[in-house]
Amino acid sequence: MNAHASDAGVGVMFNGVLSDFLDRHPDAPDFLSVIPERFWNDLGRRAATRFVPLPDEVGLLDRLAARYPLVAHGIGLSIASASAFDLAHVRQLAQWHRRYRFRWISEHLSAVRVHTRITPDHHAGLALPIPWDDDMLQMLCERVSQVQDILGCQLLLENGVVYTPVPDTDMSEAEFLRALTRRTGCALLLDLHNLYVNSVNLDLSAFAFIDALDLGAVHEIHIAGGNWLYGAYLDSHAGPCADAVWPLLSYTAPRCPNLRGVTFEFHESYYPRLEVAGVLAQLTRARNAMTGKEGEQTCRSRASSAPLPT
Ligand SMILES: [Fe+2]
Repeated sequence: MNAHASDAGVGVMFNGVLSDFLDRHPDAPDFLSVIPERFWNDLGRRAATRFVPLPDEVGLLDRLAARYPLVAHGIGLSIASASAFDLAHVRQLAQWHRRYRFRWISEHLSAVRVHTRITPDHHAGLALPIPWDDDMLQMLCERVSQVQDILGCQLLLENGVVYTPVPDTDMSEAEFLRALTRRTGCALLLDLHNLYVNSVNLDLSAFAFIDALDLGAVHEIHIAGGNWLYGAYLDSHAGPCADAVWPLLSYTAPRCPNLRGVTFEFHESYYPRLEVAGVLAQLTRARNAMTGKEGEQTCRSRASSAPLPT
């Protein structure tokens, strides 16, 4: 087993309710992950001036950047949408990267934009599953290389959530990710809660998936919680990290030699379930898991510890 990079830290996905937490526990996170699309308005491809910064949000970002290392976690590129590849969006992100010098930049390996008769950029409302086939791999290799050239840095891509099986794939998701990182030099953001969601809903082994990855390509890990709705387990970021994700983190983090950070994500509407003490507890537990203090004896308890539908 390899030890992860000694400077790997613990971070939190920033949202507005965290200001109070950061004032009271400024040293709790080592870095903040920010969603860049929250700091500008995108008026659409036909607008004369497409991207308009939001002054209040930019002021907030400036203050955060003065206090913490920032990493950018994009949500709007939709790099797997065959119908559109939005290079203007990438150039906008690159412009902000030059201004804030993000420690690293990640995006989702998913398709959220779909082509309609009205617009090529209709938002589907959730990330659509993508086929793990040779055509998709070729398209993504070309796009990832272009994105990395424009950004001037490595791109991290995050594994997504799938609520239904994807038929007729040429390879497994892990095989696809290994090929993509090998051919482009991009890295992975391994979202362990996304993986857990898939393992529950599709009856897959999360540990087998982790074992099949090239863990040297994993530079960041996400942890989060979810909830049950009508028989499906959802990636809703509902409060604290799911119990079954902690063993996955303890198992995975020490095996990632190039790991740079573990980030706790929660949706701000669930802050009343967490409050200051709850967020602090998640970050402390993540730090312990990274250093092996969580203990490996529970790591192989397998996903059978899935919470029961409530
Ligand atoms: Fe995530």
